[in-house]
This record gives sequence, C-alpha cells and structure tokens, in this order.
Amino acid sequence: MVEMAIPDTPRSSTHGEEIRTARTRRYLMCRPEHFAVTYEINPWMDASRPVDTGLAIAQWEHLRRTHLDLGHTVDLLDPLPGLPDMVFAANGALVIDGHALGVRFRHAERAPEAGPYAAWLRAQGIEVTDAVAVNEGEGDFLVVGDLLLAGTGFRSDRAAHAEAQELFGVPVVSLSLVDPRFYHLDTALAVLDDRTVAWWPPAFSPGSRGALRRLFPDGIEATEADALAFGLNAVSDGRHVVVAAAAHDLISALSARGFVPVPVDLSELLRGGGGAKCCTLELRPEAVGS
Ligand code: ARG
Repeated sequence: MVEMAIPDTPRSSTHGEEIRTARTRRYLMCRPEHFAVTYEINPWMDASRPVDTGLAIAQWEHLRRTHLDLGHTVDLLDPLPGLPDMVFAANGALVIDGHALGVRFRHAERAPEAGPYAAWLRAQGIEVTDAVAVNEGEGDFLVVGDLLLAGTGFRSDRAAHAEAQELFGVPVVSLSLVDPRFYHLDTALAVLDDRTVAWWPPAFSPGSRGALRRLFPDGIEATEADALAFGLNAVSDGRHVVVAAAAHDLISALSARGFVPVPVDLSELLRGGGGAKCCTLELRPEAVGS
C-alpha cells in the first residue's frame, strides 16, 4: 500500500475571496475485521471473488490514521462476526446537535447492524430516535450548511426525509438517484464545506440536477472517472478533503479551489461498494449551520 504523507498545512487559508477553514470533527469508525463479500446488494459486490480482509484492514487503518493526523477524534465501535458490511459506519445513523436518527436498512443482510450502532450511541449519552421508514444514515443524508440533502431511489425511502426534517427541524432537500452504481447519496455527492459540494450530475434525476445547480451554482462537477473511483465518497473538514487517490480530476479540481486533497487508497473496501466516507460517521455535537 502506498502511504501518503499528509501535507503539513495551516488550518486555514484564503483562496480568492474564499476562506478554507478546517473544523475539528468527531468520527465513529468500525474496524473491518469481518469484512467480506458474502452477498450482493449493490453492483460493486461480487461474492464469487474472495476479499483480502488483511488488505482491507490495512487500508482502513491508514484512513483512521489520516483522520487522526488531521486532528480529528475517532471513536471505534466493535465489529461483530457475520456482519461483513459493518465497516461502513456512515450507514449507522445521522447525528446532529447531539441527537441521532437511528437507521432501518433496506436489505435483511444489514438489518442487524442497526441495533449495535444505536446501542453505542446511547451508551455515549446520545439520544437515538428509532427510524420508521427505511433510511441508511449518512449514506443518504448529508449535512451542508443548514440544509440536509437526502437521497432516495435505491435505499432510503422518501418518507424518511420527512422524518429527519421533523426530528431535526432542518430543511431537507430530497434528491432522486438514478444510477445503481451510485446507490447512496454519498457515492455521488461530497460535501466540502458549508456551501460547496462536488457531485456527478448523471447520478441524479433531471429535476434533482436542476435543484442542485440552483443550490450550488459553484459546485464542482466531477467526471465519470472520478465517480467510478469513488472520489465523491470523500470526507472533508472544510479544508482537507480525504479522497480516493484514483480520482485524479477531482483531486486537481479540489486543489484549484483551494482545498487540500489528502489521497487515500481503499480499493479493497470498494469491493463492498464503499470508500472513505462510507467508513466514517460524523458525530455532530452542534446544531447545523452553527
Ligand atoms: N455493501 C454496503 C451496502 O451495499 C456498502 C455501503 C456503503 N456505504 C455508503 N455509505 N455508501 O450497503
């Protein structure tokens, strides 16, 4: 595995009129000790090809170290045998203002993950509201500024969007995903800071594309190659963007916009259909937009 050093950059800098400021985050991750592809619930998964769990763990450890080196806190949830997708912590909840919306998975194979994630959050003193409709946590819910972008089409139900708006009192923008390779919102759109996103427009319905262009006229439109490399499954602290190393166009675009790309290789986890963001759940102690 290629180890990439994190550039030693200031926490804040200006880019034209824009100021790129890192905000320290708290993340939850789950070590891929039991990672495997034993079933197929997205087009990336091929259960006939064995997975190198050791390589997945090494790549994941590098991601964890990257978050820590950027100054963030990483909490860990114990992995459970028989739940090979538990590494994809983003699907464990949506946490805003110290309150969580629990998850309800679309597929039976992942249903038993919801309980351990909720139990861990409750043990931290975070109140968890049980989900009614299907929602796969931050896989389909992304906070940007004081808005919540919410995906539907493959996994989360549209009804879950209303549930999140009622619970958090945050305006929700429903977005329809149309390409099965980009089955969660976080595979097609990355939040870079409170008003900037990177996204791949063809993953969205025409109406959703229009809505995103109105909301983010200066958004970075990624290439198909970036999207296929899971470049949009990125984790940003407002300045540093932890992004798939193979997303070359996106990495250049981020640099050109004053962000600091921090490339990581999670190729083995991509065999489960996940990348950096899928492995990282943000625990927000604060209200959105604050
Ligand atoms: N194999 C997992 C699934 O299909 C991958 C989940 C990826 N997570 C994400 N946040 N996109 O559910």
